[in-house]
Amino acid sequence: MKDFHELLISRHSIRKYTAEAISPEDVKLIIEAALMAPSSKRSMPWEFVLIDDKDKLEILSHCREFGSAPLARCSLAILVLSSPAITDTWIEDASIASSYIQLQAEALGLGSCWVQIRGRYTKGDEISAQDYICQHIDIPGDQQILCAITLGHKDETRKPFDLDKLSWEKVHIAK
Ligand SMILES: Cc1cc2nc3c(=O)[nH]c(=O)nc-3n(C[C@H](O)[C@H](O)[C@H](O)COP(=O)(O)O)c2cc1C
Repeated sequence: MKDFHELLISRHSIRKYTAEAISPEDVKLIIEAALMAPSSKRSMPWEFVLIDDKDKLEILSHCREFGSAPLARCSLAILVLSSPAITDTWIEDASIASSYIQLQAEALGLGSCWVQIRGRYTKGDEISAQDYICQHIDIPGDQQILCAITLGHKDETRKPFDLDKLSWEKVHIAK
């Protein structure tokens, strides 16, 4: 297991994956991480839908014109759903759970990428990416799909962060 700071230095979005499946043990660890994510007032407004069927993943990769190609290449995608009917912090809560999934994946040596679904549309703006996905996958209740996290064994190499090039100009000391 990597030291946490090392993990952050090495994590980058991975959009190309080998054909190797993710082991059930690793899938369990990733889902456990998501279920331990903090949420406002512990409302846990999220739900997670796992998809490993290659045909379904190929179909879902067309939920947007650009940016959703990793869905066709991954071994597993996790749709991160959340409900505005449960809490006004549904986006924040689902975002944190999504990040937990990505960080746990990195700790396991797996690659991941966030594919944005909320507010995105299919090619030609015909229908929302959410409605497109709902035509092919059963989504529980009135849940909104924030994103899909694609996961798999890495088939590309990314350079780690260079700590000397971090955007320190973003950091301010209050006067
Ligand atoms: C809210 C959010 C939405 C994103 N949407 C997409 C997406 O739709 N498709 C994609 O390939 N990457 C997407 N990404 C990944 C970003 O492009 C990526 O995190 C960013 O370029 C920084 O690169 P890194 O993750 O390799 O450090 C998204 C990331 C975030 C946090």
